[in-house]
Amino acid sequence: MKQKLIQLKEEFTAEIADVKDLKKLETLENKYLSRKSGLLTNLMKGIKEVAKEEIAEIGTLANETKNYIINKLEELRASLNRDLIDFDFTVPGKKPPVGHLHLATIAIREIESILEPLGFIRVRHPDVEWDYYAFETLNMPGDHPARDDWETFFIDEAPIKMNLPENSLKLVKEGRRLLTPHTSSIQVREMEKGILPIRMMNISKCYRRQIDISHVPMFHQLEGLVIDKDINITHLKGTIDYFVKKFFGENRTIRLRPHHFQFTEPSFEVDISCGLCQGTGKLEDGSSCRMCKEGWLELAGAGMVHPNVLKAGGIDPNVYSGFAFGWGVERCFSMKSGLNIDDLRLMYKNDLRFNEQF
Ligand code: DAH
Repeated sequence: MKQKLIQLKEEFTAEIADVKDLKKLETLENKYLSRKSGLLTNLMKGIKEVAKEEIAEIGTLANETKNYIINKLEELRASLNRDLIDFDFTVPGKKPPVGHLHLATIAIREIESILEPLGFIRVRHPDVEWDYYAFETLNMPGDHPARDDWETFFIDEAPIKMNLPENSLKLVKEGRRLLTPHTSSIQVREMEKGILPIRMMNISKCYRRQIDISHVPMFHQLEGLVIDKDINITHLKGTIDYFVKKFFGENRTIRLRPHHFQFTEPSFEVDISCGLCQGTGKLEDGSSCRMCKEGWLELAGAGMVHPNVLKAGGIDPNVYSGFAFGWGVERCFSMKSGLNIDDLRLMYKNDLRFNEQF
């Protein structure tokens, strides 16, 4: 028996050396290991007849032979399978499609990067805000008709007691909550922090009941606020002019147009020269520019912070003054030279045909 096992191992070793494909490997496996008639299986059946004193030795040898055969077969199977993988490592890979940031995010980051070196620090406040900060402290008390200009989403609830910061002047005790209709809402919140001077930017979501080619119900605005001693209109104009040249290009100019906002006095609207007709209002063929009104596009609201707003924030308007400005981020982005986004809703439609153009 011992001799037979040794011989079997030798024969198997010789045979497996000639096996070059998986089919032959299977045949060989069956020849030696098949349950019914495998050579090793048959040989091991004879183990019953082995003399008692030899059985331990023969048993061990039989197991070793079996493991040897199984391992050799597995090794060969693995190597034959590896050879089967037909892979050309020199073929260039397929690139998965890669997206880009949302246009509003791109614009927000750019605006932030332009204002930051001027010392504007970005602040964050909740989107759900008290009516108190959105209107009341901005010089629009109670039923003031100016509130109608912001098509505000109010939270559907009766006025409740407000949890305002300790040092808040609390002009009223109870209030309603709303979704921030503009980023100016945080002016007095920032003043209440009690740290002067202030030079901050708030770039956040705003919500209004409006949807048409130039409005979406959720959009973003930038609000800039500077409060210090001896701040005047030239600081306001210089800041916006600097921003416009960086964001839109050196060839774009601004003008301030008198306007009215409750929270600034004096107030302005800021126009920038049109990038399509270069501020002339006329296209090369002599026709009127389709982008603008006589060479100007409306960009922003701005002004010197109203004394009542400073007072609501606990700041003495006889000592401090400030300026504020604000504009829609999506609208501002759409006014960049060369972009011809004529419907702001496209920015939120998630249509790849639109998105892939940027
Ligand atoms: N908050 C105004 C709006 O939503 C924009 C604005 C106007 C912001 C004048 C200002 C400002 O800071 O001074 O239309």
